[in-house]
Amino acid sequence: MNELGRLEDLPQSYRDELTALNLVPLWPSLRAVLPPGKPRPNTKPTFWSYQALRPLLMRAGELTPMEKAERRVLVLANPGHGLENMKASAAIYLGMQLLLPGEWAPSHRHTPNAVRMIVEGEGAYTTVDGEKCPMSRGDLILTPTGLWHEHGHDGTEPVVWLDVLDLPLVYFLEASYAIEGQRQTVKPGRGDQAYAAAGIVPTPVFTRSSKAYPMLRYPWAQARAALVALGADRPDLDPVQVSYVNPETGAAAQNILGFYALMLRPGQTLQLPARSPASVFHVIEGGAQVQAEEHHFTLAEADTCCVPGYTAITLRNLRSDAPSFVFIADETPLHKKLGVFEERV
Ligand SMILES: [Fe+2]
Repeated sequence: MNELGRLEDLPQSYRDELTALNLVPLWPSLRAVLPPGKPRPNTKPTFWSYQALRPLLMRAGELTPMEKAERRVLVLANPGHGLENMKASAAIYLGMQLLLPGEWAPSHRHTPNAVRMIVEGEGAYTTVDGEKCPMSRGDLILTPTGLWHEHGHDGTEPVVWLDVLDLPLVYFLEASYAIEGQRQTVKPGRGDQAYAAAGIVPTPVFTRSSKAYPMLRYPWAQARAALVALGADRPDLDPVQVSYVNPETGAAAQNILGFYALMLRPGQTLQLPARSPASVFHVIEGGAQVQAEEHHFTLAEADTCCVPGYTAITLRNLRSDAPSFVFIADETPLHKKLGVFEERV
């Protein structure tokens, strides 16, 4: 590949004339924006230990009352993007959020889509669009774009969850904003009850729901049971993976990020192909080693890591006598909608 002309090869007077007219020569930057063969991601494979961050999150509970935080979160920031930019990858934001007994995180809505993966504690709930969603370890709760949501806690122990948002993308698009609201009135009807059985949907008077987000809470007990049943039914199946989808349409549960649960069989090693989207792995139960290029991360329960796109990944179950369960978030729906999705074998 031939070397292209550099900025410093151009006379300063010419460069000044360009600058004065808000013009930039492309050729000195062409290879940076269109690198040969494969992107050069800022996203670095990065690991966050729950055991290490938990005391700091609890400390935040002492240092900062809810009225001074609104959302008490430590952001899992990727150093490759600069910590202050609060990105796990180009499109993914991750945060560990703490809610103490009796606290309430006020109602708001915003353009970025969020989900919560519950990490520990019982007794908290998120009310989304008037639907009260109880929070238990491993539950996935959606707070999609534009829907009011608030968090409350009637239990006795701290509750922590992992927030996964498409905030970096929506912010980049200059489309990110929030609106504060009043406390919501809880309405009857829960999606996890309406869609409690696979393949069966409510059809009052033969009509299907036209809600964009008919199911807001995906109980871990159901997802885990689905993985166990799938693994038992198909001993040959590799990997044993399920996706969180809109039960009315079968499409990904949200428009931009994809969410999945994976069961690693006892002692299993799983090779995942290099795919264009960045991925996040979070262990719900058990333990897993995640290998991405020269990086090896050992994830215990509640640990999280992210891996850039175009990277082959190897997952190993750290348990030889029991399955391990992993929650995955990635940028696949976005890449597929944009037509840039790739898988390289
Ligand atoms: Fe929010």
